[in-house]
Amino acid sequence: MSTTGRNDDETGQSDDRDPAYPPEAEVGEVLVTEAEIVRRTHEIGAQITADLAGEVPLLVGVLKGSVIFAADLMRAIAGPVELDFLAVSSYGSETKSTGVVKILKDLDNEIAGRHVILIEDIVDSGLTLRYLMSYLRGRQPASVRACTLLLRQGDHNEDLDIDYVGFSLPPSFVVGYGLDARQKYRNLPYIAVYTGD
Ligand code: IMP
Ligand code: MG
Repeated sequence: MSTTGRNDDETGQSDDRDPAYPPEAEVGEVLVTEAEIVRRTHEIGAQITADLAGEVPLLVGVLKGSVIFAADLMRAIAGPVELDFLAVSSYGSETKSTGVVKILKDLDNEIAGRHVILIEDIVDSGLTLRYLMSYLRGRQPASVRACTLLLRQGDHNEDLDIDYVGFSLPPSFVVGYGLDARQKYRNLPYIAVYTGD
């Protein structure tokens, strides 16, 4: 199994990491390294800064997966920016086909007149993104943009219009940098393939 990228960070933190974590049986190949995430997050932050110059963008993160990306992206935006969160129900395969997404935690503040950027961890079918974009548009914001750290490659979501995409990924289930497998591995500083069951 490849462990390339597991300890490539430039912060010195790798010295303190437990070599047994994450277990190699559950976390496999690193698809996006910590350094690549840092670089891309700063590129997107600079792009948002330029696109919304003179405005105060409102980042709306989708809990919990986008928490780490939203926190880092916010610091990559030069100038004033605000942050809010939404939580949605995760759905099984039945609800997936009916297109039902339930809001478990709503926005704290009104977004009328605001320039909103929805922040997702990963877009797969696009069901969650589509639902939340139309939900946000219904609240009279000045504009709504979509930003996702990861986009799962395939022809199942080609019609989606996403303003900022960090990385496109092959079909494997991934963990790290906020993304979980049964709530675990959100704290990994990179994106890796989940090889557990
Ligand atoms: P969609 O609605 O099909 O686009 O699914 C998006 C949501 O499913 C994401 O916000 C994640 O919460 C979850 N998800 C999809 N793929 C993965 C993965 O590989 N790892 C962790 N969560 C995932
Ligand atoms: Mg999510």
